[in-house]
Parts: sequence; C-alpha cells; structure tokens
Amino acid sequence: MQFKLEGKDEQSKARAGTITLDHGVVETPIFMPVGTVGTVKGVHQKELAEEINPDIILGNTYHLYLRPQTQILEKAGGLHKFMNWDRNILTDSGGYQVYSLSANRKIKEEGVKFKSHIDGSTHFFTPENVMEIQRTIGADIIMAFDECTPYPCEYNYAKRSMHMTHRWLDRCISHLEKLPVKYGYNQTFFPIVQGSTYKDLRKQSAEYIASVGADGNAIGGLSVGEPAEEMYEMTEVVTAILPEDKPRYLMGVGTPINILENIALGIDMFDCVMPTRNGRNGMLFTANGTINIKNKKWEDNFSEIDEMGITWVDTAYSKAYLRHLFTVNEMLGRQIATIHNLGFYLWLVREARKHILAGDFASWKNTMVRNMDKRL
Ligand code: GUN
Repeated sequence: MQFKLEGKDEQSKARAGTITLDHGVVETPIFMPVGTVGTVKGVHQKELAEEINPDIILGNTYHLYLRPQTQILEKAGGLHKFMNWDRNILTDSGGYQVYSLSANRKIKEEGVKFKSHIDGSTHFFTPENVMEIQRTIGADIIMAFDECTPYPCEYNYAKRSMHMTHRWLDRCISHLEKLPVKYGYNQTFFPIVQGSTYKDLRKQSAEYIASVGADGNAIGGLSVGEPAEEMYEMTEVVTAILPEDKPRYLMGVGTPINILENIALGIDMFDCVMPTRNGRNGMLFTANGTINIKNKKWEDNFSEIDEMGITWVDTAYSKAYLRHLFTVNEMLGRQIATIHNLGFYLWLVREARKHILAGDFASWKNTMVRNMDKRL
C-alpha cells in the first residue's frame, strides 16, 4: 500500500491524498459505504459503481463469519468475487459488532466469547482467529481486533481495556506475519487507537499505535454517544500524534457535519451506516439540510428529490413520489433514498478534497456546516 499526500489546507489540518491498493486508487478524504454482509443494502453493484462510484467499501467480519461463513467465502475465492465487486474492500474486525450486537459476551485476555445475534450459538473471537478470518474474507484493508469501549466509560476500565487492545494488537501483528497471502493480492493492516474520552489515554494509545509503524492507522471508540465536541477533542489529540504520512481512519463517523469537522482535524477515511440506515427510514441528507421524506408536507411537492444531487434518482423522481413510496412501504423508496444519501456523502468528501486542493477548504467547510445544520 502506498499513501501520497497531495495537498494540505493551511487554515486547518485537512489533507488530500491517494491510497494505492491492489484493487485501485482511493482518493482521500473518502467515505466508505457500509456493506455489512456482502451488500451495500438496497444498492446493486452496478449502480454502486456507476452512480455512487466509491473507490472502497466496507464489510464486517462479525457478520460475514456468521453468514455465509468463512469457508463459503474461501470457496468463492474471497469476498470480491463472491459479491462481484472488483474495487477495494476494508473489513472491520468484529471488535465493535461483538460488543454492540451479540448477547452474553465475555471479554477475557485470550479473546471474546459471544453468542450470535442470529441463532444464539456460541463463538470465540481471538486476535489470531480474527486475522485468519479476515485473510479468508480477503479485504484489501483489514483491521486489528480491539475492544470498543462504551460511553460513558469509567477511567480505570478504559485504561485496562486500552492496554488489552494494545496487547491484542501485538498478537494480531505476530499472527498475521505467519499467514501466507491468500488470493494473490496484498492485504494492508490497520491498528486502532482506543482510550475512550480521556485525553491522557488517547495520547498514550496513539503513541503506541504509531510505534508499530503500520501503513495506516484508525481511531475507534468514538461516535458511541459522546457529545460531538468531545469526539472532536479526542480526534485532535490523536491526529497530533499519528504519523502525517499515513492515512488516518475514523471508524463509524458520522453525520455530514461530523465528517467535515473531522476532515478539518486531519482524518482521511470514514465509514458509517447513517446514509444507508437513515435512508431506509426516510431521512435524506442534502447540502441544505436534512429532509424527513415521510413528512406530510412533501405530499404534493413535485420538485426533484435534490436538484443538486449527483445520482440519477435525484432528478428523476419528485419528493412527492418518494414520499408516496415510503407511505405505501415500497422497497423502491428505500432504494432511492439510499442511492441519494450515498451519492450525497461521496459528493461531500469529493468536494472537500477539491477545496483542500484549491486552498479554500476552511471557509467552504464553515458555510457547508451552517447550511447542513437545518431541517427542511
Ligand atoms: N467501528 C466503530 N468504532 C469502532 C471501534 O472502536 N472498533 C472497531 N473495530 N470498529 C469500530
């Protein structure tokens, strides 16, 4: 993997770069659409590639391990082939889903014992087997196995957990060294900074993560219910320490405003279920604010869904029609809203990149944040 910094904003810490991976070049800042279980929900691959056009999408180890199961992905020749996606994929390690989805999880030094949210069956994740599972899924970027602490989190717990995440990181790295390359392309490994909302822990964790010298670094344990200001403070502490010449990935973030604010703090990569999940619930993100398309006020509004939108659905359909689809619970409504929202998120990060390169990111960002903070 190669990361090239192409431009830096002078009034903030925003950067524009390119990450070269074996399934293509990723222009940063980037938003990675979430394809949890081998599909970006509601969008087929042709439309995803041609309309939304992300250089990379995300999959989840936890879900893919449970279904279709690792051995099926191995028989398929990896997730790219299985889902017919020939651009990059990043897999999260399960270090978040195991805590947010499964029941009766028991966290020990050795690993995490958990019950499947699907059928209650018992499973055990360790740093070692999670590296093996991600090897077999075959993503271009694979993530360290970590513990994502909840918010709020008591200081001593956060500290113990952070140290365990660091020890798990060492185990991930030494195990990964023993695993042969699987499908003829490289897999890049990113470690994850933890430390809850404590500056001293964040600093310590960022220093440890930086010391392992990985090709890219991630920040976890944020956007778990803390106020946005606290998230930004933690990002700031961490980006001051993580190396400049490596991409920085803020996991699970966030709203369009969160994304712009974190780009300003030096983040290059994002993922979040918000555009897809909220889209399925009728919430549309636009450059002028959010729309609840289920609202009666759109009943006879025949204007385009988003006259500035980049995808074909934005100008092909009216707000009234989209509202109708939600009212009668047609799946096409959820599909249209998802395509619109992902198109908007990708447009937003591409615009951010353009403004960083043009040298006017900070003022553009402030205007966008003001405009997007409205309900239409
Ligand atoms: N996704 C969002 N936050 C986290 C985190 O802290 N760890 C992992 N592995 N994934 C995440």
